[in-house]
Amino acid sequence: MKNNNSRRNFLKQTAILSTGTILASSVLQGAFANTTSSLLEDVTHKIEDKNTIEGAFVLPKLPYSTDALEPHIDKTTMEIHYSKHHQAYVTNLNKAIGTLDKKLIEYSNSLETIFEKMSQFPDAVRNNAGGHYNHTLFWELLSPAGGGLPKGKLAEAITSSYGSFDEFKKQFADASMKRFGSGWAWLVVKDGKLVIGSTANQDNPLMSLRGKGLKGRPILALDVWEHAYYLKNQNRRADYIASFWNVINWDAAEALFNS
Ligand SMILES: [Fe+2]
Repeated sequence: MKNNNSRRNFLKQTAILSTGTILASSVLQGAFANTTSSLLEDVTHKIEDKNTIEGAFVLPKLPYSTDALEPHIDKTTMEIHYSKHHQAYVTNLNKAIGTLDKKLIEYSNSLETIFEKMSQFPDAVRNNAGGHYNHTLFWELLSPAGGGLPKGKLAEAITSSYGSFDEFKKQFADASMKRFGSGWAWLVVKDGKLVIGSTANQDNPLMSLRGKGLKGRPILALDVWEHAYYLKNQNRRADYIASFWNVINWDAAEALFNS
């Protein structure tokens, strides 16, 4: 039986040194200039805030109000999605880390190292670390001033890879619709090329997992769990996907692409 106080102290010490909360809005904006990898690392330094050292991971601030994405994504869905679902991933991630042996706790210093060693962790860490990262990224990839067309080098890469933005939209929507059950649709960069795909549950393309799966550096993410759209769209996932195009933060996506 582990000593809870020792474990708590270890987590606190680790937190003070580097352990990761992730992607507070202002941090993410700054970190977008770097790589996704350093994005994860950069955020870990913010844990020195005294308010965050009790738990290794904390819920980041939503970068806009819960009604800001209306009418495309409704306020009630945003409130529940952010304050209940995302919070639960954070809470349960911290609980799951608290049950690990010393070696795995050391690998838990950041989401980056968790994802690198993902296959060694229990499902509770995989599901909740993924849930925490995916939702944090998702909030940043949405904006009340979003929508329209991608810009700059990302726009050029999309046109070059898919022929047109409309064809890209069609293929991304198709991947979103075909993800059976709960999961995420992604646009990633893999080996220098844009790739559209999806992952199940809270898995993401940064995770090192055995077997086949989407791998790459995330550029765009869409949550296709029913909790993301059921209140407004009920079973009509296609309507929710159509709304997504109106609130995409293409500046954030392009910054990820250029990183
Ligand atoms: Fe979600």
